[in-house]
Order: sequence, then C-alpha cells, then structure tokens
Amino acid sequence: MSRDVNLGSTMTPRLHPHASASGKVILVGEHAVVYGQPALAAGLPDGLELWASPLDRRTDATRLVIPEWQLDLVLTPDNDHPVARATLEVLGFCDGPLTGWRITGTSRLPSRAGCGSSAALSVALARLVLGDEAAPADIIEASLAGERVFHGNPSGIDNLVATTGGIVRFVKGQPAAEIAVKAPLPLLVVPTGIPRSTAAQVTKVRERLARLPSIVRPILDAIGHATDDAISAINSCNYNILGEIFTVTHELLSSLGVSCPALDSLQADALSAGALGAKLTGAGGGGCLLVLPPADPSPVIDAMRARGLEPLAVEVR
Ligand code: PMV
Repeated sequence: MSRDVNLGSTMTPRLHPHASASGKVILVGEHAVVYGQPALAAGLPDGLELWASPLDRRTDATRLVIPEWQLDLVLTPDNDHPVARATLEVLGFCDGPLTGWRITGTSRLPSRAGCGSSAALSVALARLVLGDEAAPADIIEASLAGERVFHGNPSGIDNLVATTGGIVRFVKGQPAAEIAVKAPLPLLVVPTGIPRSTAAQVTKVRERLARLPSIVRPILDAIGHATDDAISAINSCNYNILGEIFTVTHELLSSLGVSCPALDSLQADALSAGALGAKLTGAGGGGCLLVLPPADPSPVIDAMRARGLEPLAVEVR
C-alpha cells in the first residue's frame, strides 16, 4: 500500500483533524453466507465521525473518547481493552502517531449489535492517518489490522462497506461485487438492546444443520436465492418485492433457530404498522431488526417508539 503521509519523513507523524466511516447492515444472506451462499450488505452512511486534536505534550498517551459507545480510553501499550489495542494497531499499521493526541468520536450506530461499529472505528482511524484521499484498498488493509483484534479472522465485508458505503454482494472467499444503487434505499434499523453473540448464533445453525441436514440445507439454499432475488428487486426499485423477501427471509432465519421472541414480536409490530418488510439482520438472537419502511415511515417509527426503541433512519446510496 502507499503510505506516503508519514513515511520517509523526519517530522512527527500527524493525524488529520477529521475522518468518518459508514456502518453496515446485512440486507439478506446472513448465516447462509457461512455455507457459501451469497449475501448482501449495505453501508449505513454517517456511521462514525472522529475528530483529532494534538495534546500539549506529544509524549502523553493518546486518549479516545466516544460517548455513545461509553468509551473513554487512555491508549497506553499495557491497556488491554480491545478498542485500545485495535486503535493502536491501526495507528501503528499506518505509521501514525501512537501518543500525543485526543481523538473524539460521535456515532449513531449501536455498538456490538451487528451494525459494523468496530469496522467503522478501524476505517475512520485509518482515514485519520492516511487522509480522505487515500485509496480505499489502503484504508481497508489498514483497518483490517484493527478488525483482527476484535474478530480474529474477519471476512472483511464490514471494512469494505465501512469504507465504500453502498451495497455489495459477497460470497465467502471471493471478491465482493458492488451493486449499483439506482435510487436511495430508505431503511430503518431498530436496535433491540438485546446483546447477542455471533459465534453462539453461528454454532446454533451448524448444530441444527448437523442434526437435520436434509431440512436445513434447502433453507440455506433458499436464503441464497433470496439474496439474488433481492438484487433484482433493488435493480428494478421494486420495494414491495424487496419487502416481501425481507419478511420471508426472517421466517427462514427463524426456522434456523436464530431469531428470538423479541425480534419476532417487533417484526410483527413493524408489519402491522405498514412496513413493506422486516427481518432480523446479522447474527440474530437480539441485535437489530431491519425494516423496509413505507413511503411515509412515521407509523412504523411510532410503533417502534411505543416499544421504547429508537429506530435509526438511513438512506443507502
Ligand atoms: O451480526 P454480525 O454483524 O456479527 O453478522 C454475522 C453474520 C453471520 O452470517 C451470521 C456470520 C458470518 O460470519 O457471516
């Protein structure tokens, strides 16, 4: 990668004053993607913004503060908080400054809810060092140094959409393909506030597949078909069909055992309020509900608020 911001210079490495990154949501294909089926992910615009300012003393430890994620970390080398380690990994990978800065962030993404918050952080940090003009491939490569701290061996899809936004189709082990978005796609992402473990959810599917292969295998295949049907629906701006695909996919995922009562009843409420479709997104078992809203989303938003939940309204571009 080209890292000409700080290389070959005797100057103290610096950070740019501002950087941002998108979040991510899986539109269709979660869980089936683990078994080689295609999945579709979308960038959530304006996911995270970071601002950097130098401390008076360049030898003081850098501080990272993101109030919405309850983060206030002093980045000393012995701080074993995963966010502190990931931050220093990304800054180090880019030959950025490891001390002497205050980095403040603001985010509308829920953290640890399948919305790509960790990838957004790694991508925005890489941009703080390398700048907005850096090639996307360089930003992705640098950000993966951070994502590996969180997720060991990440697929990289979160980092890709955090960098480029838009919609991408991906198949495990193959390069991702961008899907042209002809008209902005409005979505509501509803955080349930219920924590979930991606690893535990993936294990559930693996065990059900082992017990009931002749039933579960066709369900995984059907989810793969749903991904490609969703691409056709997005291409033709057929939101009624896209919504129906969301809803059917929720039922398929539910039959794999990865929904939960709260997601099921939230989905029912969204549909009763006029949503074109709704499904769990990502690992399931909690996390977020993804809703394709009608032209006037307010009845759906009100229905979610009546349950004490605040939907994130986005337009995928
Ligand atoms: O909720 P997330 O962002 O962790 O998404 C998990 C997606 C799965 O398909 C369930 C797992 C995977 O590795 O693709």
